[in-house]
Amino acid sequence: MMDQVNLGMIGGGTVGSGVVHALQQNAELMTSRTGVLIRLAKVAVKALDEPRPYPIPRVLMTTDWQAVVNDPQIQMVTELVGGTTLARTIVLAALRLGKPVITANKALLSAHGEELFAAAAKHGTNLYYEASVCGGIPIIKALREGFVGNRITHLYGIVNGTCNYILTRMKLEGADFDTVLKDAQAQGYAEAEPSLDVDGHDAQHKIGILASLAHGFWVNPKDIYVEGIRHISRIDIQFADRLGYTIKLLGIIKILPAATTKSRKPGSTAGARVQVSVYPTLVPNTHVLANVNHVFNAVFVRGNIVGDTLFYGRGAGKDATASAVLSDLVDAALDLKFATPHRIPPFAPHEKAGAVARIEDVVSRYFVRLSVSDVPGTLARITRILGEARIGISSVIQPEGHEGESVPLILMLHTAASGTVTAALSTISKLPVVKASPVLLRVETFE
Ligand code: HSE
Repeated sequence: MMDQVNLGMIGGGTVGSGVVHALQQNAELMTSRTGVLIRLAKVAVKALDEPRPYPIPRVLMTTDWQAVVNDPQIQMVTELVGGTTLARTIVLAALRLGKPVITANKALLSAHGEELFAAAAKHGTNLYYEASVCGGIPIIKALREGFVGNRITHLYGIVNGTCNYILTRMKLEGADFDTVLKDAQAQGYAEAEPSLDVDGHDAQHKIGILASLAHGFWVNPKDIYVEGIRHISRIDIQFADRLGYTIKLLGIIKILPAATTKSRKPGSTAGARVQVSVYPTLVPNTHVLANVNHVFNAVFVRGNIVGDTLFYGRGAGKDATASAVLSDLVDAALDLKFATPHRIPPFAPHEKAGAVARIEDVVSRYFVRLSVSDVPGTLARITRILGEARIGISSVIQPEGHEGESVPLILMLHTAASGTVTAALSTISKLPVVKASPVLLRVETFE
């Protein structure tokens, strides 16, 4: 049996150098716990002298990734270059040689996951990806192993630290989106090009990976309904707070109840329709996720055996991400040592009949903010349209103290299908008394 496994690393930037540093700190500890030494044999970098947060020993570095992947001494490979083109080539090259690959690359998995897992299976090896979702939170391992005996009926995740940081500051400071975004960029909390984060795509990648793992069919990112947070204004945050809610960008993965009841066997969700979405959501202030603030991530998982569970931690950063990579390095090394590459596969397709539900069919409660003329009959016109669509109103606020062309009107709606509500709002937005596009946000009750 092997007591040492030689590791090749591709990518020596923030995450790569973080992994080098973490191995220098804890490789011995890991060996004493697992009985196998992970030896970093080579690191392929873009440039030997590029700036990096932690130094990498010069003797380990090369600029030729193929020299790492093809080295017969190297038994497993970690891809930490990011992007989806070169990264795909590297991962496929290593898998085809039967070498396990450890990646932190959510965009790569989102775009090419099905192909890469199929290549791993074909070549009798595995692709590990703990670091691709929520940095240091071991959510992949929890879903794959800890909850292997559960159906994951609900998963709610605050999985993008940038959005959570912006929304937290908007709430605490009463600031608007643009001001907080600019400040977050100046402080390095948000990227100069923020759209991947603030338009919800980073969360889309992560939620797609979690949904695939939890439900056993590979989720096409195109099927995930996504809204970002650019359209959230401080007035929405303030009214939500007044009603007892905090706005969070939530990834939601939920088995739709109709599909569950249609299932043949008790507990079976074969052929389930699963909501997989990312949107700003009103979370009751009393719920634990409403109190996950700043850059922190959290994932709330409900299993049909375990009940409710919560995972909290840093979702990004060189050290948190390195912690997740180390966990996968150990899994891969142990699978090599004991020749058990399929112990619990990182992704096991097991639900061919499952599918992502259309957002139009997803039922929830809603917060609607309209800008309306303050003239008699306005409320009656709006409520008539909602009534005809059989959408119930649970509360209405038209605050005093607003004057001018238009005033805010906030409606809380009872449960209704998304398609019904968007159609009714489209009719409402055409009324002459409605002065701006309505803001529609979903409310989550966690039932
Ligand atoms: N940009 C991400 C975030 C971290 O803000 O959470 C990397 O996925």
